Amino acid sequence: MEFREVLSRRQSCRAYDPARPVSKEDILACIEAAGLAPSACNSQPYHFTVCTGDFGKAVAKACTGMGMNKFALDAPCTIVVEEAAYNATAAAGSKFKGQDYRSIDIGLAVSQLVLEAQNRGLATCILGWFDEKKLKALLGTDAHIRLVITLGYAKEGDPLRKKSRKELEKIVEFKE
Ligand SMILES: Cc1cc2nc3c(=O)[nH]c(=O)nc-3n(C[C@H](O)[C@H](O)[C@H](O)COP(=O)(O)O)c2cc1C
Repeated sequence: MEFREVLSRRQSCRAYDPARPVSKEDILACIEAAGLAPSACNSQPYHFTVCTGDFGKAVAKACTGMGMNKFALDAPCTIVVEEAAYNATAAAGSKFKGQDYRSIDIGLAVSQLVLEAQNRGLATCILGWFDEKKLKALLGTDAHIRLVITLGYAKEGDPLRKKSRKELEKIVEFKE
């Protein structure tokens, strides 16, 4: 797929085909793409847990509080994104400059992950709505959980939506 086509066809999928699993090869390629992303001082402050089967369902369930994200229950795979430690230089830079590089690094990595998935004909949705306490208990981790990604194939006939975005002039300005 053309790069631009990947960008425009990627959309948050909220209708998965529960009967179509994702191959381990595709999952690993997506994680590898995430790991190729730039990060402050090359710190790569993230960890991905790939969850399938009953474990994946339990993770999905932890994202459905207050009636949200019910579609996640149909996704054959969920990926939990934990924040990991900075390396020493990123930690020093972050403190010195008062910048939260980890959020930026995680966002960049997740962006590459979902674009690689799109390039492989897979569908994703990034979830920021989840019960962190429940996920921590499930995963047996104390790390800060930042995102969950649903991964699978869109249901047959799931339409490509028109993008709703701010006009270019509202997000950019040129100064000389
Ligand atoms: C940090 C983050 C958190 C999000 N959380 C959710 C979520 O919990 N549930 C959901 O359905 N979509 C979630 N989304 C998807 C956004 O709603 C979606 O990206 C946005 O509306 C643009 O639509 P598009 O991805 O289809 O282009 C999240 C996206 C991001 C980047």
